[in-house]
Amino acid sequence: MNIPFREDSKFCSFFPRSKSFLAIFVAILLSTCSLAWAQDSTAAAGAAPAAAAGGGDAAKGEALFKNNCAQCHAVTDEKVVGPGLKGATTRNSIEWITKWVHNSQAMIASGDPYAVKIYNEYNKAQMTAFPNLSEDDIKGIFAYVDQASAAPAPAAAGAAGAAPAAGAAQTSGPSDLFMIVLVALVVVMLLVLGVLLVIVTILSKAVSGEAADASKGDFMTRFGASLKRVAGDPAIRSATLWIFVLLVVKATLDGAYSVGVQQGYAPKQPISFSHKLHAGEYKIDCNYCHTGVNRGKSAHIPSANICMNCHGVIKKESPEIQKIYTSIENNTPIEWVRVHNLPDLAYFNHSQHVNVAGLECENCHGDIAKMEVIQQRSSLTMGWCIDCHRKTDVNTKDNKYYDKLVQLHASDSKEALKVADIGGLECSKCHY
Ligand code: HEC
Ligand code: HEC
Ligand code: HEC
Ligand code: HEC
Ligand code: HEC
Ligand code: HEC
Repeated sequence: MNIPFREDSKFCSFFPRSKSFLAIFVAILLSTCSLAWAQDSTAAAGAAPAAAAGGGDAAKGEALFKNNCAQCHAVTDEKVVGPGLKGATTRNSIEWITKWVHNSQAMIASGDPYAVKIYNEYNKAQMTAFPNLSEDDIKGIFAYVDQASAAPAPAAAGAAGAAPAAGAAQTSGPSDLFMIVLVALVVVMLLVLGVLLVIVTILSKAVSGEAADASKGDFMTRFGASLKRVAGDPAIRSATLWIFVLLVVKATLDGAYSVGVQQGYAPKQPISFSHKLHAGEYKIDCNYCHTGVNRGKSAHIPSANICMNCHGVIKKESPEIQKIYTSIENNTPIEWVRVHNLPDLAYFNHSQHVNVAGLECENCHGDIAKMEVIQQRSSLTMGWCIDCHRKTDVNTKDNKYYDKLVQLHASDSKEALKVADIGGLECSKCHY
């Protein structure tokens, strides 16, 4: 009987190739798996710092800071309404600070020299009193302040030092952490691959009758010799090359897809205007300021005159409100930093979505009424628009315009009329 692998020449010409195929196959498999895994684990790792600090006070402090202090204080030494809180715990004891936060006015009235000094320095702007924050809460806030002020400023353009933006700003494209995890994985993969190939080599030797040879010497020398051979093995080299190529391709594609995607963008604004305060606590209607949402393409950013409807009397003495006055006196508009911005090639109309379709702002912008600083929550990519047009039913209620269409549609489909059915996927609807 002629068993192929007994015949040395045939075996040799077949085996090296199959071995390199195997190596390449394993390499591809491993790198795909690990890439998927790497992404998951970066997502997890991204959440980890918060979770790790969850035991301590800083994580709780962060939430407290953002909800109570961020509209007036930065974690850096930058002035907002009040002084930057960086190093506040070195200026005063935590007991002093606790008393101050509970009731700064009482301290000023009692004649505490530092309290009086800083009050005058800030033009007698009154800090809100927080009698319900416990000493632990306040310690937590400053644990967070110390942590955040020690961290390097976020790289995101314009976000540097913007306390509320810190942590919220996401990077587009692969993060540093992602790259570290990737590199670590590649190393692990190469080790695994090395071991696999050692095993393959030993096995193949056993099969080809060199087993007797190889059993001489102890395990370590055999292992060492195999490793040497493995390092010189063309199959390993080509596998390494493949992994490298795949990683480069993956990184390039990721980079290309995230060009211009600004999800998570939350720049610092020239006036620390808070939607949480105005739209959340005081429940001012979005339309009151964004007068275009029901009527036209653009939602509009309010002019300083709209602010003056209230701030002609409310909080006139606040340095932030003074900026509105300065803007009006100098006749220069407030230079708000634009957050959401589609490229010119795409057409988007607010009234079509808000007025006709009856969508809530939250569908696309997230819960603005909870945001101290506006952040772009959706990706605003073409895929995002299309995805919603595929899934969303057209709001046909009380809209005669759609009656005919609904009838026609119902005659050949059981499903509800989707935006896609009325041409919501046609290129020309969104591109001029
Ligand atoms: C409405 C604005 C406002 C809010 C909200 C606010 N502060 Fe202040 N804070 C100020 C102002 C203004 C000063 C400067 C003193 C003054 O004018 O009363 C100040 C001063 C301070 C100081 C002294 C700073 C220094 O340099 O030593 C500390 C500490 C402080 N605030 C902590 C907090 C904490 C903690 C919170 C949140 C729980 C908070 N503040 C919320 C406006 C505010
Ligand atoms: C008192 C006036 C006022 C009210 C009320 C208000 N806004 Fe705004 N909004 C502004 C100002 C001023 C800006 C620009 C500064 C900024 O980005 O914070 C803005 C910015 C925005 C932006 C980002 C614009 C950009 O640059 O891309 C969105 C989105 C937004 N508002 C949505 C809402 C929603 C949703 C509501 C209701 C829940 C609302 N706003 C209520 C004044 C207001
Ligand atoms: C419908 C009334 C209303 C309008 C319009 C309005 N605000 Fe306010 N704003 C308020 C109220 C109420 C407060 C809370 C005052 C307080 O804390 O005592 C406030 C607080 C503020 C503060 C915090 C001030 C501080 O020192 O605590 C800023 C900054 C501010 N508004 C900016 C703006 C800007 C900018 C606009 C225009 C885009 C605007 N507001 C429009 C009602 C309004
Ligand atoms: C279907 C999604 C969607 C809904 C719903 C929506 N927006 Fe927008 N919004 C966008 C997009 C997309 C942009 C960016 C537009 C651009 O750059 O041309 C934007 C931009 C804005 C801006 C910046 C100024 C401008 O018009 O470019 C403001 C302010 C705003 N939206 C407020 C609102 C408010 C207030 C509501 C609710 C009444 C709302 N939006 C509902 C998608 C939406
Ligand atoms: C949250 C869901 C949602 C998102 C996100 C969304 N849309 Fe829409 N869009 C709708 C709905 C619902 C309608 C149907 C409105 C109507 O009845 O005319 C619509 C209609 C349209 C139309 C008119 C289509 C037609 O055939 O008349 C255009 C153009 C459009 N959207 C553009 C965009 C663009 C551009 C984006 C992304 C920047 C976007 N939309 C994101 C829900 C969405
Ligand atoms: C519902 C709205 C919508 C429809 C329908 C739509 N697009 Fe887009 N398209 C967009 C938006 C929004 C962008 C900008 C997205 C961005 O910057 O990531 C875009 C970007 C693009 C770009 C620029 C490349 C890029 O990714 O930035 C091209 C090319 C394009 N679209 C082609 C098409 C073609 C071809 C069709 C028809 C098959 C089509 N689009 C249908 C909304 C739409």
